[in-house]
Amino acid sequence: MIILKAEQIYKSYTDTRRRVEVIKGLDLEVAEGETVAIVGPSGAGKSTLLHVLGGIDVPDKGRVFLEGKDLYQMNDRDRSGVRNRDIGFVFQFYHLLPELSAIDNVLLPVFIKKNDSRRTPEMLEAGVAALKDVGLVNRMEHKPYQLSGGEQQRVAIARALMNRPRLVLCDEPTGNLDSATGGSIIELLMALNKKMGQAFVIVTHDEAVAVRCRKAIHMRDGVLVAG
Ligand SMILES: Nc1ncnc2c1ncn2[C@@H]1O[C@H](COP(=O)(O)OP(=O)(O)OP(=O)(O)O)[C@@H](O)[C@H]1O
Ligand SMILES: [Mg+2]
Repeated sequence: MIILKAEQIYKSYTDTRRRVEVIKGLDLEVAEGETVAIVGPSGAGKSTLLHVLGGIDVPDKGRVFLEGKDLYQMNDRDRSGVRNRDIGFVFQFYHLLPELSAIDNVLLPVFIKKNDSRRTPEMLEAGVAALKDVGLVNRMEHKPYQLSGGEQQRVAIARALMNRPRLVLCDEPTGNLDSATGGSIIELLMALNKKMGQAFVIVTHDEAVAVRCRKAIHMRDGVLVAG
């Protein structure tokens, strides 16, 4: 079954002087549980594409369907609900909240969903399980500055999976890590995919990441071409 479908996406940026066409009629289909790498040079539009796929950035034209629901036909409120509940995001620079401990960062999507930032015993148990999945239970109360880059990325991955999304979008998840740590992060993503069956779309420069995915697609001239 197709979980994510993008149809004829166009996206450009306009500043005062000129218009930059970044995405030019792009199509993509991702099946349930599939791992897809999107590879392309800097400036090719990979982050832009991920934002469009994840309901963050409205395309100029085209449609994005997540589990059959048209993301940009929804109102903003429904779309942010989908973003929080149904999609996980992992970024190059982790984007953890510096004042929160690892466990509270992981629980953030649950706090948002419930509109309440008190930890219940059930939530705590779920958060601990998520940290266990990424091999970090012994760092639960550490703040981000007390964690290594690889550990921070593990927290970010646990957070992305907290609401059990069927789709996880990763933007250069190993881009800020040395190759050994990056390697362990990609192995973790693949192990989680095997265990829980979420689909992963991973934007990367890193060929080592691309070869671990079931499919690698190149982004070139604003569209995707087979790898
Ligand atoms: N908010 C913006 N306003 C204007 N131009 C933008 C904006 N965001 C991105 N661009 C331009 O769009 C193009 C694609 O940017 P994008 O960040 O998607 O590339 P990328 O493939 O993710 O690059 P990298 O590998 O360096 O992260 C670039 O030429 C960039 O300058
Ligand atoms: Mg980018």
